[in-house]
Amino acid sequence: MNEKKEILVAKIENGTVIDHITAGRALAVLKILNITGKEKNRVSILINADSKKMIKKDIIKVEERELSADEVSLISLISLDATVNIVKGYEIVKKTKLTLPKRVKGLLRCNSHTCISNQDPEATPTFNVIESKPLKLSCVYCRTYLYEEDVLYQILGEKQ
Ligand code: CTP
Ligand code: ZN
Repeated sequence: MNEKKEILVAKIENGTVIDHITAGRALAVLKILNITGKEKNRVSILINADSKKMIKKDIIKVEERELSADEVSLISLISLDATVNIVKGYEIVKKTKLTLPKRVKGLLRCNSHTCISNQDPEATPTFNVIESKPLKLSCVYCRTYLYEEDVLYQILGEKQ
């Protein structure tokens, strides 16, 4: 890590650093984390940072907060190479390389309007993750596929 980068985004005392985010996906990660700009805690966002492992990467540092399992699941779907670092007293106390969940429950909608998960409020939309790169999920009720662009569309609310 060079000196320039250190100056660009300071180390944090307590919170979570999401590193190695696929370049350009930081805004989608902010949506997943429900960060709107109204929060009181400090959030640093770096888009298209230089990376040794990747050509470019995004980084988000969220102070005074840890991520929920659902948030981590969604981030893994759109940025499998990301790393979640938990920082306490300036030290990284836990580093997690993301892995894809086998099932995603209650976080995404099925694209088929006739699917029972869109009709019956008791039926929680559930998908099996069947391929990782490129991402492909299958609805457990109607087998409709969801692809990475569908997931991004559901998170960002706009076509990619
Ligand atoms: N970081 C931070 N505040 C700290 C400690 C670390 O913001 N108190 C950030 C670093 O700037 C870096 C990320 O957390 O973006 C991971 O830090 P570290 O594990 O030290 O870096 P690397 O060894 O490069 O990580 P990796 O092996 O995951 O690439
Ligand atoms: Zn379905």
